[in-house]
Amino acid sequence: MSRVPLPYSQKILELFRNPKNLGKMEDATVSAVAGNPQCGDMITFYLKINEEDVIEKATFESYGCAANIATSSIVTERVKGMKLEDAWKITWKSVAEEVGGLPAVKFHCGILAVGALRRAIRAYYKMKGQKPEWLPEELTFEEKQALEEEELAKILAKKMKMAEEGSKNV
Ligand code: FES
Repeated sequence: MSRVPLPYSQKILELFRNPKNLGKMEDATVSAVAGNPQCGDMITFYLKINEEDVIEKATFESYGCAANIATSSIVTERVKGMKLEDAWKITWKSVAEEVGGLPAVKFHCGILAVGALRRAIRAYYKMKGQKPEWLPEELTFEEKQALEEEELAKILAKKMKMAEEGSKNV
């Protein structure tokens, strides 16, 4: 069966071929793994944060698609030099705009990039035993969509079981 290519913008294709800040950061202050239950893809975000809570460096590893690599690349570029409070406010919609728009079936890939960033920021404050006022108690939509490895594995196992049972009933 031939597949119809997705309508990706030039910018997404460019960043997919030449992503910025791709790779593990050995001296990261904090990292967060995040997976998306819709597609099962995983990414890891690494942040180097200084004493003033400013992000000095950000990198990512992605086992996701072109849209995820492009949006993660944009997020890691944008947060450089930002205070954590400002980085927290980055929305997946603004990131999607910056890559020239995402096809609707790929919204979750951009949400995953922002969710991983937020998970890393939350993990940083947890590690420090602090909770700034601007950090919401409840997980935000993006964080909920960017599941921890274990949660993701559970959901995927459940989905597989349901699919198996479904095929038995055919
Ligand atoms: S399809 Fe999974 S991250 Fe894009």
